[in-house]
Amino acid sequence: MADQASTLPLLTPHKLGKFDLSHRVVLAPLTRQRSYGNVPQPHAILYYSQRTSNGGFLLTEATGVSDTAQGYPDTPGIWTKEQVEAWKPIVNTVHAKGGVFFCQIWHAGRVSKSGFQPNGQAPISSTDKPLTPQIQSNGIDVAQFTPPRRLMTDEIPQIVNDFRLAARNAMEAGFDGVEIHGAHGYLIDQFLKDEVNDRTDQYGGSLENRCRFALDIVEAIANEIGADKVGIRFSPFADFMESGDSSPKELGLYLANALNKYGILYCHMVEPRMKKFGKTIEGPDSLVPMRKAFNGTFIAAGGYDREDGNNAVAEGHADLVAFGRWFLANPDLPKRFELNAPLNKYDRSTFYTSDAVVGYTDYPFLDSTD
Ligand code: FNR
Repeated sequence: MADQASTLPLLTPHKLGKFDLSHRVVLAPLTRQRSYGNVPQPHAILYYSQRTSNGGFLLTEATGVSDTAQGYPDTPGIWTKEQVEAWKPIVNTVHAKGGVFFCQIWHAGRVSKSGFQPNGQAPISSTDKPLTPQIQSNGIDVAQFTPPRRLMTDEIPQIVNDFRLAARNAMEAGFDGVEIHGAHGYLIDQFLKDEVNDRTDQYGGSLENRCRFALDIVEAIANEIGADKVGIRFSPFADFMESGDSSPKELGLYLANALNKYGILYCHMVEPRMKKFGKTIEGPDSLVPMRKAFNGTFIAAGGYDREDGNNAVAEGHADLVAFGRWFLANPDLPKRFELNAPLNKYDRSTFYTSDAVVGYTDYPFLDSTD
């Protein structure tokens, strides 16, 4: 068994900058909505600890950069002293087990409503185009969004600064680095994608202009904490939250190339298979041009299982593979991959509930008798 495991590409070591990873199975960022009042809770210590292995790489759930960043109930933040202090024991526990832990920093932009905003104001975005109400994952409730307010050009540096301060706070909390959330229709993606961005200033129009906000953030954070501690996640192909793009390949390639200028640690991209309703026309190799263009570590995510994760690494299409739903439901996922053990099924109905245990820390481990 050990011989077989040692030849599994996903279980080979990888040097992520100065971090020596013992395997390539990454915990994808997973919003769990159990941070009551935007403050990480003690139950998150057990949740992240369960998913930590010695030399493993973990990403936090999307974590708000400011009091205008929130889009869903009870998501954590990292803009107050209380939040920074609450992250510390979680980070310490992951470190004690040998994990490398980055905080995914996030602004929801227009995927929000006035109830989540200071003084009930409108959410901010690249645009003032509203989102249409959406059926939530439970299939019954309808998510309502408040029409956003388009940021004025001279307000944009302040938002970039919020990201910079959040990155500084993440380092203060003890994280090894940050991942900038530039995916899935949230604020950064609202600038990137031409279905959303209808600006006429230097942050809209051309590809270069639409990417400017993301790259301003990359630059500010790299200057603040060091490029060797910065990663970014993009989903050029995704149209989640009405954030499609007419030329996703060009967009992804432009970003991958542009990132090289800043020398950041990694680029994390989500496969088109993440697209809704399984309407995927692109094959699993759609990220290869971006992977070739980017000089640092490349992380792929979206719909991977043990077999195609191994293939992606073996073929050089990814250095690391992030697993979302399988890691959510299998706290010992790398071990299960090693043993080719059966996986626990995930229960969608508890992805976003507020219970501190059920669907959160009660997924069973393999028998510890091996
Ligand atoms: C997600 N995803 C996600 N992505 C992200 O960048 N930040 C986040 O906070 C979240 N939150 C989140 C919550 C839940 C419950 C799910 C299922 C997904 C997307 C996730 O990181 C991953 O890209 C997708 O789940 C696709 O990968 P899998 O699940 O096919 O491995």
